[in-house]
Amino acid sequence: MPEHFEVIIIGAGAAGLMCAATAAKRGKKVIVLDHANKMAKKVLMSGGGRCNFTNLSIEADNFISNNPHFCKSALKRYTQWDFIALVEKYHIDYYEKTQGQLFCRESSKLIRDLLSQECQSNGAQIRLKCEILSVETVLSSSQTDTFKAIETIKSESAKDLNLTAKNQIGSSNQNTTFKLTTSLGAFTCESLVIATGGLSIPTMGATDFGYQIAQQFGHQVLPTRAGLTPLTFKGRLLNAFKEMAGNALQVQVSCGQQTFNEAILFTHKGLSGPAILQISNYWQPGQAISINLLPHVDIATWITQLKESRPDIQLKTALASHFSQAVASFFASEVGFQGKLKQLTPQHIENIVQTLSDWTIYPEGVEGYRVAEVTLGGVDTQQISSKTFESALQSGLYFIGEVLDVTGHLGGYNFQWAWASGHAAGNYV
Ligand code: FDA
Repeated sequence: MPEHFEVIIIGAGAAGLMCAATAAKRGKKVIVLDHANKMAKKVLMSGGGRCNFTNLSIEADNFISNNPHFCKSALKRYTQWDFIALVEKYHIDYYEKTQGQLFCRESSKLIRDLLSQECQSNGAQIRLKCEILSVETVLSSSQTDTFKAIETIKSESAKDLNLTAKNQIGSSNQNTTFKLTTSLGAFTCESLVIATGGLSIPTMGATDFGYQIAQQFGHQVLPTRAGLTPLTFKGRLLNAFKEMAGNALQVQVSCGQQTFNEAILFTHKGLSGPAILQISNYWQPGQAISINLLPHVDIATWITQLKESRPDIQLKTALASHFSQAVASFFASEVGFQGKLKQLTPQHIENIVQTLSDWTIYPEGVEGYRVAEVTLGGVDTQQISSKTFESALQSGLYFIGEVLDVTGHLGGYNFQWAWASGHAAGNYV
């Protein structure tokens, strides 16, 4: 006999655990199934082991989706303040690192423990190392009776009654039962929640399972790609970046209409750092990115004054007042001026301003899912209720968290989406 639960959640990550705790608090009989050997692995590895669990400022603009309004309702109903209150209830010490980003002072394990405790104390079960082999809908007894009625009616050729019976099937769809065949046996439930996340970091257990289930039930899955990922370069730029690897700069990076003021980091593969991860969500192959290397400096005034006060120094020496020696030498060569400051013409100064304030470069690609923090795209939200997260195509089926086509900026937004969507669905399953 299959084990029966009112709610089965596939995926013991941030969204799945929040949903489980919320539903169990309402008295629902809940189980979370996950194929991994540990729950909430991404919570554990997040924020460099300190979990950037939310942000002091959460706006719909911090999220990318084909359906930009979809995230608003859930984010309003479970806010950053709700999660902060939960963190405080568990006496977890936290601090604001930068730009509203809240991190645990001690360890992200404390957030994992909080989620585990919330599930446990409300009676939600969690079963790990559970491979999901298939998901199907089975007829509940009331539906079976209705089908029997149709067969009888058909044999009596009573067209009008036949219609009534069919309508009954439509309404009995409200009570769909799902049957899951798994490596730990069979399970049945009335509400099935898909919380299997995105494709990033496959070594942590990421799979395309959620997308497969969505398609099985007729949902559209929007094209996916790696997000919040370093950018790669080749040729001359890559060689230069290798020379400067390890150097970080506070800059302004733009791509199209998007701009981020954060740090970039030169690496042996190209560019990384928060500003690059942020812009990678917007960058498309073939596009340029533009970097203002000195966003807080009036470059023309600074270099003109320096030309007066220190006419005999070289440009790379002047640049070394803002950058390390290696970075200063590189940008002096990017400007293409090797002489002393007293030799600078107005055209040279214009070139310096242009290069340092709008350094335009073409990435070769992104590092990809191996290191990406999130997945852009996913289950199309057009056929999901923004109130309940239930599928419009299959009653009793829910999608939450990163598996949906909602991706946050860097800075605690992705976890806030997991908490908010998990909480919303948990109130309706
Ligand atoms: P999540 O990925 O957390 O959970 C999905 C679960 O489903 C996993 O437990 C997985 O094992 C399970 N699963 C998948 N396929 C399955 C299958 N076929 N069968 C059974 N189970 C299956 N965000 C943020 O806001 N602040 C931060 O500091 C960070 N830091 C960070 C660092 C790194 C390195 C990464 C990779 C990501 C982040 N993120 C982040 C992003 C954040 O971790 C992510 O958006 C959320 O974990 C998404 O939560 P979900 O619950 O939707 O998926």
